[in-house]
Amino acid sequence: MRTYLVTGGAGFIGSNFVYYMFRKYGDDIRIINVDALTYAGNLGNLSGVEDRKNYSFIKADIRDKEAIEKIFAENDIDVVVHFAAESHVDRSIVNPEVFVETNVLGTAVMLNAAKAAWENKDGSFKEGKKFLHVSTDEVYGSLSDPADYFYETTPYDPHSPYSASKASADLLVKAYVDTYHFPANITNCSNNYGPYQFPEKLIPLIINNALSGKKLPVYGDGKNVRDWLYVDDHCKGIDMVIEKGKPGEKYNIGGHNERENIQIVKTIIKTLQEILPDDDPRKANVSEDLITFVEDRKGHDRRYAIAPDKISKELGWLPDTKFEDGIRLTVKWYLEHSDWMENVTSGSYQDYYKRMYKV
Ligand code: NAD
Ligand code: TYD
Repeated sequence: MRTYLVTGGAGFIGSNFVYYMFRKYGDDIRIINVDALTYAGNLGNLSGVEDRKNYSFIKADIRDKEAIEKIFAENDIDVVVHFAAESHVDRSIVNPEVFVETNVLGTAVMLNAAKAAWENKDGSFKEGKKFLHVSTDEVYGSLSDPADYFYETTPYDPHSPYSASKASADLLVKAYVDTYHFPANITNCSNNYGPYQFPEKLIPLIINNALSGKKLPVYGDGKNVRDWLYVDDHCKGIDMVIEKGKPGEKYNIGGHNERENIQIVKTIIKTLQEILPDDDPRKANVSEDLITFVEDRKGHDRRYAIAPDKISKELGWLPDTKFEDGIRLTVKWYLEHSDWMENVTSGSYQDYYKRMYKV
C-alpha cells in the first residue's frame, strides 16, 4: 500500500486533497497528514476522514528537523505532497520573516529528510518515491501584455515576500533535482477557490462580509486579474503529476479562467442573491452597495494567467469544473457551513481583520 505524507493537510488545499485522494483511492492508500496547525490549519476540516484506519494526523512543524526525520524513520513514506506554507500575500507584506522560515527553511528540512530516507548507498534513489512540491503561479511575477501567459519556461520574477519565498523553495527543489537527481516534481498553480478556504482570501472574505452586511473591500481599482481554478481540479492535477509526471519536471496548472477582482465580487453578490431563500434574514444584507474601494496592496501584481499546455498535452489534465458551477458550489458550501466560518473567524481573526482593514 502506498503511503503519502501530506504536509499542510489541515489547510485549504491540503484538506481538499486528502478528501480527493480518499474518494479516488479509498482503502488502497495511506495518508499521514503533518501540520503545525497555525491560524490557517483547522483539524475540523478533516472530520470526514479522521476515523479512517488509513488516515493519521501528526502535529509537527516542518521547520523541526528532528520531528520530521522521526516521521520518516517511523514510516515508509512513498510520496511527499508538500503543501505546508504561509500562504497569504498581505500577511507576508507585514511579516516576511515567517514566510522565509516556513516556506524556504521548512522546505529544506522536508527535502533533506526525504533525501536521507530514500537515498541508496550509491546515491541513487529507491524505486517509486516522489516529492511533489506544491507551488504557485505568483513566482512568475505579473503580466502586462494581455496576450501573454505564464509558461514553465517563464523566468521567475516574484514581487511579494510570499512569492519570493515560494520561488526560493522552488529553486531549492530544482537544485535537489539537478544535483542529486532527487525524484521531485514542482506544480505551479493559479488561484484556487472552493470549500475550507480561510476568509483572509478574496472569495471567502467577500462571501462572509456580504452575508453579514459588512463592507466588501476591493483593493485599488478592482481591475487586477487572477486566474481562478476550482480546488478539486488542482487536486486532480497534483495526483496526475504524482502518477505520470516525468522525474524532475515542473507543470503549470490553471484552467484559463481570468477575471478582474471586481467581476468576482459582483458574481458572488449575484450568486448569493440567487441562492439565498427569501425568508433568510441575511438576504437583505447582500448588495452591491457594500462594495468599497480601499487602498491598494503594496506591490500589487496586476495580472496572473497560466498556460496549462504542458500538463494538458503530456498528462491529459483538463479542469472539470466551470467557474459558473464552481462559484455556485463554493457559495452553497459556505452557506451550509456557517458554523465553520464562525469557528475560524472567532478569536485572532478579528484582530487580524481590524489591523488589516483599519476598521
Ligand atoms: P493554507 O494557508 O490554507 O494552509 C497552509 C497549511 O500549512 C495550514 O494547515 C497550516 O497550519 C500549515 N502550516 C503552516 N506553516 C506550517 C509549518 N511551519 N509546519 C507545518 N505546517 C504548517 O494554504 P493553501 O491555500 O491551502 O495553500 C497550500 C499550498 O498551495 C501552499 O504551499 C501555497 O503556496 C500553494 N498554493 C496555493 C494557492 C491558493 O490559491 N491558495 C495557489 C497555488 C499554490
Ligand atoms: P488573494 O485571495 O489574497 O490571493 P492572491 O493575492 O494570492 O492572488 O487576493 C486575490 C485578489 O483579490 C488580489 O488581486 C487582491 C484582491 N483582494 C481584494 O481586492 N480585497 C481583499 O480583501 C483581498 C483579501 C484581496
